[in-house]
Amino acid sequence: MNLQNRVCFVTGAGGEIGSAIVATLARFGALVEAADLDEGRVATRLGEYPDLAKQCHGLALDVTDEGRWDDVVADILARHGRLDVMVNCAGLFAAGSASIDTMELAEWQRLHAVNVDGAFLGTRAGVRAMREAGGAIVNIGSIVGYFGARSGVAYGSSKAAICGLTMQAAASCVSAGIPVRVNAVHPGYVLTESALADEMKKHGNREAAIAAFSTRNPGGMIIKPNDVAGAVAFLACDLARAINGVQLLVDAGLSTQMPGRAFA
Ligand SMILES: NC(=O)c1ccc[n+]([C@@H]2O[C@H](COP(=O)([O-])OP(=O)(O)OC[C@H]3O[C@@H](n4cnc5c(N)ncnc54)[C@H](O)[C@@H]3O)[C@@H](O)[C@H]2O)c1
Repeated sequence: MNLQNRVCFVTGAGGEIGSAIVATLARFGALVEAADLDEGRVATRLGEYPDLAKQCHGLALDVTDEGRWDDVVADILARHGRLDVMVNCAGLFAAGSASIDTMELAEWQRLHAVNVDGAFLGTRAGVRAMREAGGAIVNIGSIVGYFGARSGVAYGSSKAAICGLTMQAAASCVSAGIPVRVNAVHPGYVLTESALADEMKKHGNREAAIAAFSTRNPGGMIIKPNDVAGAVAFLACDLARAINGVQLLVDAGLSTQMPGRAFA
């Protein structure tokens, strides 16, 4: 894969999957603008990849802040002259597992503001910046949003919106003749501290929490942030030039076991 000198913008870059995406894009040659709520959080993550320091630049962006998006993208265009790839990875997990009858409107709105509004603002900013020269946008959803889950009503709903946003944005660009591809990556159960939080509450110790977490994936496979990052890099580069509007699952085949999909 080749992303030599491509200018990429990744949100949620202070997180585990986001920082793996930053590092993977940079290893394929990209110049990466890495954003998160807190500049210090991004700096700490980027510090884990000293060999990539020259290619990566950290910045603060709350993805729900519409005005700040304009400033940040204008600054990137001023410094690099262009943007080639936008990755919307910033996300909030649901605290606990509220069901529909106990879900508070404030909690519903908190998750949708970051997971949906943030991804919308990022997708729109990406299309606006890349509409002439072309480019690629990758939105990070979740298999929970793709298939539904027994718990996490607001989280599942917000991630389901990533499917719709991606499809509609891709269709809108194709219809308008805008050469920007928009695709989504839906991770399965990826071992990160945020995803492990519920199991940690249940089990108390880390080893037991990881053991319980990994049984969610087929064969107990541990899916790592780099597994997601590889899929993102593929969709971002020219190898995927004819791929537009797809929902790519990175779930170790969990989806094949869904009722109605797997044959006895
Ligand atoms: N880990 C998994 O199993 C899994 C599965 C499916 C989808 N995902 C998705 O992958 C993405 C990354 O997950 P992760 O496990 O690395 O979690 P993480 O908590 O390590 O990373 C999420 C990052 O988003 C940032 N963020 C939160 N609100 C923000 C805001 N308003 N503006 C800017 N940044 C903000 C956080 O500061 C954090 O650095 C999320 O969108 C998550 O929903 C994760």
